[in-house]
Amino acid sequence: MSVVLRPMRMDLADMRILCNLLEFDRKEHEPMRPPQQRLEDRQAEGATSVGTIAICDGAPVGAVSLIKPPADVIETAIGIWVVVDPAHRRSGIGRRLANADVDACVGLGLTRQMTVIALGEAGSIEFARSVGFHEVDRGYKLVFDPTRWNSEEGTRVLQAAIDGGVEFLSINALAARYSDWHVQLHALAMEIFGDIPAQMEMESSAWIGQSPDQLAARMNAMRLDGEGSSVALVDGTCAATTWVTQPRDGVCHVPLTGSGRSFRRKGLVRALKQATFAFCKAKGVTRLQTHQHESNRPMLELNKRLGFEVQSGHVIMQRDLADCQAGSSVGRADRRDSTNATIASTAASLMGPKRPSCSGPS
Ligand SMILES: CC(C)(COP(=O)(O)OP(=O)(O)OC[C@H]1O[C@@H](n2cnc3c(N)ncnc32)[C@H](O)[C@@H]1OP(=O)(O)O)[C@@H](O)C(=O)NCCC(=O)NCCS
Repeated sequence: MSVVLRPMRMDLADMRILCNLLEFDRKEHEPMRPPQQRLEDRQAEGATSVGTIAICDGAPVGAVSLIKPPADVIETAIGIWVVVDPAHRRSGIGRRLANADVDACVGLGLTRQMTVIALGEAGSIEFARSVGFHEVDRGYKLVFDPTRWNSEEGTRVLQAAIDGGVEFLSINALAARYSDWHVQLHALAMEIFGDIPAQMEMESSAWIGQSPDQLAARMNAMRLDGEGSSVALVDGTCAATTWVTQPRDGVCHVPLTGSGRSFRRKGLVRALKQATFAFCKAKGVTRLQTHQHESNRPMLELNKRLGFEVQSGHVIMQRDLADCQAGSSVGRADRRDSTNATIASTAASLMGPKRPSCSGPS
């Protein structure tokens, strides 16, 4: 059986192929992102995406999709996801796909690939190890259903904080009031980010920019919602913040939540979250998602008390592209199926418009 690899085009037709293949890997608790949304993410300004499709007898039997959002936590890493039709597994296709875009990634200045695999999926973890990935961290996906938010209790929590002298503003309102809003918010976000107890290396500068001047552009790139994202002000100082992305198909993500070092254990985050829940409920959001590093127990416990449910645990894995190029993980693919391999150049797909990256199937 001849299996041919070809570059994934960043168009709707190939996004449909990718979505159809991802159905084989469907997680019941996860909403499937439609082809149009996947395409938009890949075409967003500043995003990078490549991919390869495996064809057997004219039909797609596997794909690898790599995507890097415009504001990412690791400057030189890209997220990768491989999926193979179950009828064609254990015949080397997954390995060939995993290695198909290594040179293209290096050509884009990337040094690492990252993947996120659910803890119970031993076969997938074994596969990733066999193509050179190793574990760098673990985490949880947490989900909150805003339609079940207790607005009475939430409003009471917010009001108690307001009565105690805290002011809550949306980021839009903050920007309208203070011309230097970005300086304060950038400093706060840097402090919070620096205190996240993650095992893996993360770069705040790659994510929200080195300088405050870059903040607004990065927030746009993250598709943050300026009304839904908010800050808690104490005596005019940005003391705590929580960010939320613009609702899409009833789903919002929380990329950052935290309080400044001198404002912790004062209930600011608990109160801020009520503002987020109120916003989500008003917008018809049914799923508010966030990612939590396993090492961040305090935030995990707080989120659980706030009503978030742990949906799944996952392992975050990474591989070094220089090692792949040196052949440590590519070699076995050639051994298995060198006769009918046609690995087309991905250069063409790189010409197209370029967006948890380390967040599972992208
Ligand atoms: C994981 C997946 C992509 C593997 O595809 P595949 O075409 O079957 O993989 P390959 O045949 O190239 O396997 C390469 C090596 O990976 C390991 N491997 C693959 N599947 C495995 C499994 N179920 N259990 C244990 N090891 C496995 C083996 O070492 C295998 O080499 P071997 O067959 O010589 O022992 C496929 O099972 C899949 O689509 N799963 C759902 C999506 C997913 O979890 N993707 C992984 C994220 S990167």
